[in-house]
Amino acid sequence: MEKRNARVFRNQETTIKAKDAEYIRLKPVGYPLKSTDEEDTPSLTTDDPKLFEAFAKTEWLGESVSKGDYLFDTIMYPDYAFRVEDVKPNPGRITKRTKIYLISPYSSKQTFKVKTKKKISFKDIVGQKEAIEKCMIIAKFLKNRKLMNSEWAPRNILFYGPPGTGKTMTAIALANYVKANFLSIKASELLGVFVGEGAKRIHQLFKEARKKRPTIIFIDELDVIALNRSYQSIRGDVIEVVNALLSEMDGLEDNTGIIVIGATNAEDVLDPAIKSRFEQMIKFSLPTYEERIQILKKYANGSPIPFIVKNWDIIASKTSNWSGRDLKEKIIKNAIHYAVLHNLRVIDDAVLQKILKMSKMESDSINFKHYA
Ligand SMILES: Nc1ncnc2c1ncn2[C@@H]1O[C@H](COP(=O)(O)OP(=O)(O)OP(=O)(O)O)[C@@H](O)[C@H]1O
Ligand SMILES: [Mg+2]
Repeated sequence: MEKRNARVFRNQETTIKAKDAEYIRLKPVGYPLKSTDEEDTPSLTTDDPKLFEAFAKTEWLGESVSKGDYLFDTIMYPDYAFRVEDVKPNPGRITKRTKIYLISPYSSKQTFKVKTKKKISFKDIVGQKEAIEKCMIIAKFLKNRKLMNSEWAPRNILFYGPPGTGKTMTAIALANYVKANFLSIKASELLGVFVGEGAKRIHQLFKEARKKRPTIIFIDELDVIALNRSYQSIRGDVIEVVNALLSEMDGLEDNTGIIVIGATNAEDVLDPAIKSRFEQMIKFSLPTYEERIQILKKYANGSPIPFIVKNWDIIASKTSNWSGRDLKEKIIKNAIHYAVLHNLRVIDDAVLQKILKMSKMESDSINFKHYA
């Protein structure tokens, strides 16, 4: 195979006599140059640390590096730079046996997102009566210090149900209602990072939550880390994150005024050890026929192009098993885009029928590809 010229910037040339490196940690730092009107530099991360290691070796095998040197990508993101944060020994030569870790872009201070700005309230949620009722109980506790400090206060709640049914929006609505801080993290962001990093982020998350209460910690995609052991080969990074989470949830530290809401589409495959930590399971369901009409009308009302529709029921009757997100994105949003493209001044029943047909064809072909 023809050997490409890997590109490396070395601070010093002593690396020529480098010994074989045991490990190296690379931090994605971005492009050396970019045009001012270009979009944001991507924050690179990986789904699979082993795959990243293989990729990195095809790029930089045989290179000797010291701490602080830069390695430039030549394949996927040409000219994107990775700084050598750590190499053992220093300097070290990248061999087939060198462990190569990618430091996650989230491992700096920005571990999780803080959201309270989004103006979502319980009024915006169509249906999900039971979920909202249970949230009201939680809200009463959060608003009353005496109740909250009691041993009866809710601590860990699980939202479960199909994608796009309002789990995230309900958690935000609850935080807004009680004026709580809202810290959110996706479980998938805790994996595929440097050893120890996922657990560290969990601890940071709770530490941040303890600084200012009340706080709602929202852990999305919980199933990614909390999958029943019989469904997954046990991965070191998963175990480490789960253990950190369990120790925080068990409340070795004082967690008064902190509520953890986990969300998942797949509660049936959750590990029992994790599931049992959630004292309340709140179910989110797909909208009923009437709720589908309400959701469609609600989002049509906010449209810049007026919807003049006589028979919402036709659309509602053909969209059983569609979520609130599906109705909003696949029907209302697509109809608006269609109207903009064709310079329509109103969106009527005929346009909606067309959009529904197109959306259905699209999802059928996706399903077909999926099962083929
Ligand atoms: N019941 C609902 N009422 C009003 N809007 C809804 C409802 N369900 C979903 N939506 C719309 O769909 C969007 C996506 O919902 P949300 O992100 O809360 O779903 P989710 O259950 O968290 O999905 P996922 O499991 O994929 O994370 C919402 O921002 C909202 O615009
Ligand atoms: Mg969500």
